[in-house]
Amino acid sequence: MRMVDIIAKKRDGGELTTEEIQFLIKGYTEGSIPDYQMSAWAMAVYFRGMTPRETGDLTLAMAGSGEQLDLSSLSGIKVDKHSTGGVGDKTTLVVAPLVAAAGIPVAKMSGRGLGYSGGTIDKLESFAGFAVERTREQFLQQVRDIGVSVIGQSGNLTPADKKLYALRDVTATVEAVPLIASSIMSKKIAAGADAILLDVKVGKGAFMKNLEEAETLARAMVEIGSQVGRKTVAVISDMNQPLGFAVGNALEVKEAIETLAGRGPRDLTELALAIGSRMLVLGGLVAGEQEGRAKLEEIMASGAAVEKLAQMVEAQGGDKREVYEPERLPQAAIRHEVIAQTDGFVAGIDAEAVGHASVVLGAGRLTKEMGIDLAVGFVLHKKRGDAVRAGDVLMTIHANKEELLRSALQELEGAFDIAANPPAEQPLIYKIME
Ligand code: URA
Repeated sequence: MRMVDIIAKKRDGGELTTEEIQFLIKGYTEGSIPDYQMSAWAMAVYFRGMTPRETGDLTLAMAGSGEQLDLSSLSGIKVDKHSTGGVGDKTTLVVAPLVAAAGIPVAKMSGRGLGYSGGTIDKLESFAGFAVERTREQFLQQVRDIGVSVIGQSGNLTPADKKLYALRDVTATVEAVPLIASSIMSKKIAAGADAILLDVKVGKGAFMKNLEEAETLARAMVEIGSQVGRKTVAVISDMNQPLGFAVGNALEVKEAIETLAGRGPRDLTELALAIGSRMLVLGGLVAGEQEGRAKLEEIMASGAAVEKLAQMVEAQGGDKREVYEPERLPQAAIRHEVIAQTDGFVAGIDAEAVGHASVVLGAGRLTKEMGIDLAVGFVLHKKRGDAVRAGDVLMTIHANKEELLRSALQELEGAFDIAANPPAEQPLIYKIME
């Protein structure tokens, strides 16, 4: 088999065989297929696409390119959750302890933030001493003991995806749907999931900017799931404005704790219940979404969801007092209020601008090597649709350095759109695909 023939076949719109796909992923992972041939292939896929069968084969080949986690020693159906990323998206911090408290084992690997979209692992490190690196045995034992563990992704998982993603990033081929879908799904499969709940974000602060693109990606991933025998459900949710009120690591942790206690923002609570209840269905714990939702609401109200987070923090070396007294979490030195200049209604809050401003402030990173400031970020006081009077506080900026605060304020210029009339309703969840 020759890579040049595989490139030519795809360039001409042909369908690659399972063997050809396995050959190219194996060769690329081992280094016998060079970057330039892989780039040409990725561009051919960008223009010609892949059939569902090819995409399924690519996913399995990438999932099998490195270590795979075997979760079979944990009882029950293991349901994983993945978000395509957004601003203020702390849903995993809520959903993982919540569904674990309901009885679904959660053995989850999460990522760090990169660019304007945050990452669960950074957020968890807001708890002093919280360990995100665990041995496989520690990780599994914790799930057996308390039902939940969230750790950073193991270095040896899906090396083919790691290489290919870096290559796509510099060859203008990130946007090919079969490549995005197989990249995400290969990581979930290698992490051992039996069933997968995907939160596909759409809007200004998301990877997918419009509903059509988000639906295409969601459909591709659900189809891969059925091809490879992992039941997959995709929730397409809004990311035009930040989720909840808080953006920034420790600030988001605090909001997640409030949400676990049943006192969270409406949008975050609704999304956590929509995702969590479907995870209970996928895990075979309840027959339908309504039953799941009622169960999760009860768990929030009883204090068991907060308790589960405290157990997880303690088990991973953190200080559980920070769960019950969140004022112990990292706090910024400077508070700066952004004031409304006119009366009206919030027509929109540009999630992408808020995300960029959070990076400028130090809450996020532009390169993988950058350090971050866990304390800084924003707390919104108004969301889309809210009435505003001149002089009202729109958001509080939590900063540690005056010069970064000034740069963040520049980034935020125009992020709040105040209009004379209330905006049309915008759904939080656009579509559920399964
Ligand atoms: N996230 C991934 O993990 N892979 C992609 O290709 C795009 C987003």
